[in-house]
Amino acid sequence: MAKHQDFRAVLKTLFHSEDESHNPSSNDSFEQVVARARLGRRGFLKGSSSLAAATMLGTGLAFGVNAAKQSGQTAAAATNLRLSFRPVAKSIADTLTVPEGYTARVLLATGDPIKANVSPYKNDGTDHDFDGRAGDHHDAMHYFGLNRAGNGWDPNGSDRALLCINHEVCEDLGFVHPNGPTNYGADSTAARPAIEIDKEVAAHGVTVVEVVKQGGTYQVNRDSRFNHRVTAATRCQISGPARRSPLLATAFSPSGEQTRGTLNNCANGYTPWGTYLTCEENWAGYFNRREADSARTAKEVSSFKRYGIGNTTSGRYNWSRAEAARNPDLYQRWDASKTASRANQDYRNVANTFGWVVEIDPFNPNAMPQKRTAIGRFAHEGCWPAAAVAGQPLVFYSGDDARNEYTYKFVSAAKWDPRDANRGMAAGNKYLDAGTLYAAKFNDDGTGEWLPLTLANPAIANYADYNFADEADVLINARIAADAAGATKMDRPEWGGVNPVNGDVYLTLTNNVSSSSGRGVKTPLNAANPRYYAEAKGETINRGNVNGHVIRWREAGGNHAATSFTWDVYLFGAQADAAPDVNLSGLSHENDFSSPDGLWFSEAVPGLLWLQTDDGYYTDVTNCMMLAALPGAVGDGGTKMVSNKAVPINSDGDQQVKTYVGQVASPTVLSRFLVGPRDCEITGITESPDGTVIFVNIQHPGENSESATDPAQFTSHWPDGGNARPRSATVVITRNDGGKIAV
Ligand code: FEO
Ligand code: CA
Ligand code: CA
Repeated sequence: MAKHQDFRAVLKTLFHSEDESHNPSSNDSFEQVVARARLGRRGFLKGSSSLAAATMLGTGLAFGVNAAKQSGQTAAAATNLRLSFRPVAKSIADTLTVPEGYTARVLLATGDPIKANVSPYKNDGTDHDFDGRAGDHHDAMHYFGLNRAGNGWDPNGSDRALLCINHEVCEDLGFVHPNGPTNYGADSTAARPAIEIDKEVAAHGVTVVEVVKQGGTYQVNRDSRFNHRVTAATRCQISGPARRSPLLATAFSPSGEQTRGTLNNCANGYTPWGTYLTCEENWAGYFNRREADSARTAKEVSSFKRYGIGNTTSGRYNWSRAEAARNPDLYQRWDASKTASRANQDYRNVANTFGWVVEIDPFNPNAMPQKRTAIGRFAHEGCWPAAAVAGQPLVFYSGDDARNEYTYKFVSAAKWDPRDANRGMAAGNKYLDAGTLYAAKFNDDGTGEWLPLTLANPAIANYADYNFADEADVLINARIAADAAGATKMDRPEWGGVNPVNGDVYLTLTNNVSSSSGRGVKTPLNAANPRYYAEAKGETINRGNVNGHVIRWREAGGNHAATSFTWDVYLFGAQADAAPDVNLSGLSHENDFSSPDGLWFSEAVPGLLWLQTDDGYYTDVTNCMMLAALPGAVGDGGTKMVSNKAVPINSDGDQQVKTYVGQVASPTVLSRFLVGPRDCEITGITESPDGTVIFVNIQHPGENSESATDPAQFTSHWPDGGNARPRSATVVITRNDGGKIAV
């Protein structure tokens, strides 16, 4: 269909711009690159066994959010872990493969009803009631055990639980519509049927659904009073320091206290009081600005540029241009143009109400979601907690997933009191609305610093390029504040997590490829982001960091609130047959991967790490995958020189970069557990408290289909098979002998 071919071309341009670099700051300057010739040794690794150090650290820490259920586990126990499954082979088949002796079952796919009075999903685009159905593009999720009374959280609850599932986007091909979408795309100025927009809005957001254990696996309980959807239309409270900022005033909420909807819910977090954190990632592309929207202040223009909100005529889905809308305001709100004389009469500020971490209380469907502004506004991939320790601040780590963006952490002002564990949103108000946001600087000597993003930091207060009005302005424009502070540009930070055994913090850097803004093109290489080229699809690719890597760090003194750390690269992605200077972690056919994205530490099996991929460069050989890992500790490897050729930003082209690499990843400590169906990404994982069941999300199978209606042009029919339209889905994976997963 011509419409779709045109449309795909538009989409490709549009989506490739979503993770595009909008960071023109001079952080990580060329002078710094030159200065790298004077690298020193980093003493912190010398002379001590880092594994021994890990053991010492581990015994002194609480082990994660659900510390109680893990009492008795020690770092020593974790080092005895062994991966007990046979690795799954790479595959480009349209199927989901798990190891021998395991079973994967689809639990909840796009459109499946979550309420008893909603009809089965026909998957032909004719169903409309997404408020009562699972949304699309399943992403991160979390398992919250229900207590025996069925009215609150029990971290050990394994009979019943609430699953919170993110729905990142609505399938761009428009599988949710009978004949694909009408008039969306970057260059479209045409009106769209409101009925289509309403469905797309409702397919975004979060699903909260009760699951009940039956026969060793879980089923959806469609009668549960907890089941509900939060969508891109749900009323949300704005909380924390930016609440009531004039920069958040809209016609909907002139005082800047509320907004409608949560958007592009990608990865997640969770709190020690049993609430869910859903994170708004690529929200910028949803907003339209009219070409005539020129009378904006210099600060507004700076902010729009830094967050990638251009003055195009459309927005990702053209949601602001509804035809025959009964309530025009519902659609007007996607237009961030200045159209009235005052900010509280239009939606010029609406984009400032997105890009936050949003807290949802799964046990209280009536509690309004809270946008926690103290954690900053950017393309939030996720918000991962460090262990909650009584009397210490709470710490949450976040990545900003766009090319050349930063790593952040939030340290609460309030100290953790375990008596708050059952206080729901009231605990959120206490711990998440006041604290310090930091951005990370990774030094080339293997050390790092956390730079406070506050006006008390002179680099921010005196920043020449942007005059911050107040702390709310700093949080709303956190990217600009991090520019001012001098944070390190990274290769697209995706998921993070804290190893419950030793407190090491991990972060995937999925890739940074672009001939105009990839690593090495405009942004210099550095020790933490040392790669420019790769071998993929049978050729050398010189456009940036193609395969991605996983960085990790240890906070000074094992204290997550510390302002300095030491780091190394846990793993470099590569195909196994690439040259040694590309396959830097020594990957083999049992564990080679590209573009790490999802990353999650099991709490039931401390020390077990899961890695998931969202890759576009190893796809000639394999679909995206999930691997199980038993990582060591920061500093367990050594130094390495990474050879890069023809680096555009370097005057002589070739560049050797010294970095720090973890142990070689043998199959005994890194092994492929799952391969997904065609054109999917694997993203999102959670588990039952006893570790015998894992839940995994398969997102956008068949993404590269050329038609939403012609089955012959679908690249996947998973999970329904036959001629079915492909759907995203949550799957439940169990071991046939009932044992713990992977070990
Ligand atoms: Fe939505 Fe960065 O993945
Ligand atoms: Ca992701
Ligand atoms: Ca990704």
